[in-house]
Amino acid sequence: MEESKKKIHEEIDPLTNDKFVPDHEFDGIRELNNNPPSWLNILFVITLIFGYAYLVNYHWFKAGDLQEEAYAKEIAKYTIIEEEDVEQVAENALPIVYPLTDETRLADGAKIFANNCAVCHLAEGQGLVGPNLTDDYWIHGGSYDEVKTLIMNGVIAKGMIAWKTQLSKKKIDNVASYIFTLRGTNPPNPKAPEGELYKAE
Ligand code: HEC
Repeated sequence: MEESKKKIHEEIDPLTNDKFVPDHEFDGIRELNNNPPSWLNILFVITLIFGYAYLVNYHWFKAGDLQEEAYAKEIAKYTIIEEEDVEQVAENALPIVYPLTDETRLADGAKIFANNCAVCHLAEGQGLVGPNLTDDYWIHGGSYDEVKTLIMNGVIAKGMIAWKTQLSKKKIDNVASYIFTLRGTNPPNPKAPEGELYKAE
């Protein structure tokens, strides 16, 4: 018994020179014990490398969005545009003339200010390249409408950007309203007053 098994194991197919798999015979048909072809091995290694790279990139370093997040982001883009369209229509019908008090919009305004305006007006609005936004002196008028219009159109010659090409109307209202919350906060090292004393009517 032992002898015959060993013999089968070592048996070579005379046609292909490949080894037979021992004991794999049915109806006189026998299975060969071939190595997989090298192109298949190479492909396998490539899928391994890809798999690890994917794992490290997406699950370890979280450098990319997985499909659910990518999809949600794409959808969110269109939802925001739709929301803004609706609000835009509403705003055109009845422009906002007073600073907003809504907390989420003010928080968004604070973020916009930190990202876009603080370089020139400083983090607390005390002024650097741009004027102090916390005092009652305004070069271009201190009413909400005047401030908002100025942010939209800028003063290109003086280095103040026209933000209407960069920010939506909604965002401009958010940041303009946020600036109003800075008034009278007396931050340290303020820039000297510029413009005229503004008094709300
Ligand atoms: C590159 C520098 C720069 C950046 C960035 C900048 N500003 Fe200005 N800003 C200025 C300058 C300079 C003036 C003064 C313009 C003038 O003298 O007429 C100004 C003026 C203003 C005024 C009018 C002040 C007044 O006294 O009438 C407001 C309001 C204002 N900026 C808001 C913003 C907001 C909001 C942002 C961000 C969305 C911003 N600025 C970003 C440079 C900047």
